[in-house]
Amino acid sequence: MSTSVDRFDERARREADRVGQTVVHRGELLRHPVYTRVLHWLVAIAFILSLLSGFAIYSPWLYRFLAPLFGGGSMTRFLHPWFGLFFTIFFFFQFLNWFTPMVWTDNDSRWLRRIKQYTTNTAKVEPEDVGFFNGGQKLYFWVIVISAVLFLITGILMWFDNVTPRWVVAASYVIHDIAGLIMLAGFVIHIYEGTAAQPGTFRSMTNGTVTEKWAWTHHPAWYRAVTGRDARESYEREQRRVADRERAIQQWERDRDARDRV
Ligand code: HEM
Repeated sequence: MSTSVDRFDERARREADRVGQTVVHRGELLRHPVYTRVLHWLVAIAFILSLLSGFAIYSPWLYRFLAPLFGGGSMTRFLHPWFGLFFTIFFFFQFLNWFTPMVWTDNDSRWLRRIKQYTTNTAKVEPEDVGFFNGGQKLYFWVIVISAVLFLITGILMWFDNVTPRWVVAASYVIHDIAGLIMLAGFVIHIYEGTAAQPGTFRSMTNGTVTEKWAWTHHPAWYRAVTGRDARESYEREQRRVADRERAIQQWERDRDARDRV
């Protein structure tokens, strides 16, 4: 992306780092600075509010449960477009912030072809060429970009339905709902991957840091770029360390049993 966007992002990251803090301990790496984390959670809050208020409007059954959260039916209808607007505005800044690491490469196409191994956790360490984001994360990002654009356009057309032709409003409803459902499916997978499926990932969006072990396991090329060390060597060193520790414990137990027998 253009250097003026890079300069804007740099300045925003510096300013945010002056307000918030990221403490990086020994054996950890900085993953997401304060600016990225604040944007991520603003996007998440706006998305969840849009989703809940959208569901309330969409279904009369859910209406009874969800609409009271927003102060009743007409208030929900009033607030929903604003939640959606905030979502697209916050995501626009995240888009500028993440555009560079999200550019699609041949490595990502290769990653997608071996997605089954990833989901079944067959390999202990990700392939050497997986950088800051993997192909799945990039795919999710670009799905949100396309959906957010569709959301915004169709949302505005439905918001101003008094000046929009009826058939355009009708088509907008369908596109808006399809984009919403696609994002919802991505969101469910995203929460699972960011928490239970890949332990150690969630803290990157809270503390801003990850362990080096996490980095060489999931993003070897990024690990190499920031530490200058090879992920595979680090993995093998860790294996040796664990094996040595196991052996030392077993030896200590044998010595203790021998002492007890005397
Ligand atoms: C509310 C629950 C959520 C949780 C627990 C969560 C968790 C995370 C975590 C831990 C990361 C960092 C992954 C990494 O550094 O490798 C991340 C990244 C990201 N989040 Fe979320 N997130 C949530 C909601 C959202 C929402 C609502 C959106 C947008 C609609 C979103 C969009 C993204 C994107 C595009 C990334 C970067 C790509 C990726 O890691 O998939 N997140 N999220």
